[in-house]
Amino acid sequence: MTVTRRALLAGGAVAGVGAAAAAGLAAAGSGRSEGSAPAPVPVSFTDIGTGRVAFHGPRQAGVTTEPPAHAAFLSFTLAKGTDRQALGRLMRLLTDDAARLTQGEPALGDTEAELALHPARLTVTFGFGPGLYRAAGLASPVTDLPPFAIDRLEDRWSGGDLLLQICADDALTVTHAQRMLIKDARPFGAVRWVQRGFRRSAGVHAAGFTQRNVLGQLDGTANPRDAAMDTAVWNPDGSTTLVVRRIRAEIETWDLLSVTDKENAVGRRMTSGAPLSGRDEFDEPDFAQLDDTGLPVMPDFSHVTRARMSDPRLKILRRPYNYDEAPDAQGRPDSGLVFASYQADIDRQFLPIQRRLAEKDLLNEWTTPIGSAVFAVPPGCSAGGWIGERLLA
Ligand code: HEM
Repeated sequence: MTVTRRALLAGGAVAGVGAAAAAGLAAAGSGRSEGSAPAPVPVSFTDIGTGRVAFHGPRQAGVTTEPPAHAAFLSFTLAKGTDRQALGRLMRLLTDDAARLTQGEPALGDTEAELALHPARLTVTFGFGPGLYRAAGLASPVTDLPPFAIDRLEDRWSGGDLLLQICADDALTVTHAQRMLIKDARPFGAVRWVQRGFRRSAGVHAAGFTQRNVLGQLDGTANPRDAAMDTAVWNPDGSTTLVVRRIRAEIETWDLLSVTDKENAVGRRMTSGAPLSGRDEFDEPDFAQLDDTGLPVMPDFSHVTRARMSDPRLKILRRPYNYDEAPDAQGRPDSGLVFASYQADIDRQFLPIQRRLAEKDLLNEWTTPIGSAVFAVPPGCSAGGWIGERLLA
């Protein structure tokens, strides 16, 4: 039975709604994803607030750690005259704040100490933009991305000398950490932009499951995993790089598409996330499979076909967050992705993918990059050390 929006508005077909919704859920596919109709299991919410992610270690947290529900990406422009020594002072302060807050302890001089007591898997990850290296008199390992024809970049979402990625399962924990860190960073520079984002809340599905984005797609299926993740993301010294792109989703026109058109644009099923050539979410896409008419089952210009890197060492780790700002007066949404990707080397890994997508990708019709920034993510540090020490000391 089909329940149309018109029938609902006319007050008819109400009895069918529950049945139709249940049928939709039951048809929601299979796999380690949100597509699976979840069996009702008792969930314990007692430890969400107390969850801690270790801050110290050879690699920074917040990269390959399971992404919690809320994030704030903060980009700073350094004040004129902030030299290497000043940067060292800044990073000592911020490292100390992050080391305390992530473990559920107030920052030094914390004005709302109670807000620090629920770390909720808080991570604070630091990235250094090309301008920070210039200020320190050092050669930068990252350079701004070249322009792409699909870009409609706005200054207010682009660039930056220093990045803080703050993630936690609780929005108030993120807000508090953001305020403490900004207080200490303020004498050294100005906030250039803040982008807040969200994913499914803790408890909605089990850890490790693929999240859905605001377009309704399962997003993250083909991310590198386990050993492949190690080589794709980390350099031997514990560093990595981060690309942040703010990508607006053209949801009004996306909503007009049929499910088949949405699936062809990406090359995967909306329900299960399975490739069009397969059955389950984690089936390998078969790009050689043809349909009855002799056309490839995975469309040549689908997002997945264009984005695929067959060499696992060249894959990128996508760790995006959804954003959803207030709609305009006509109710049109302002939504999309704070697309964040981590990779050992931007030139070898991210750029070839982005070039191919910019050249041809069916999904481009419904996505528009409006912000862009790149950062080197220095190694982690041990207790008593600070992030960036090897560069700036
Ligand atoms: C709003 C923008 C975007 C949306 C909605 C989106 C959505 C998706 C979806 C639904 C998938 C398939 C499931 C998965 O493997 O996660 C996917 C795969 C992928 N996307 Fe995107 N994506 C976007 C932007 C980008 C950008 C900017 C890049 C990199 C430049 C990118 C790179 C990839 C890669 C590498 C894959 C995996 C391909 C494979 O090996 O199967 N995506 N994306």
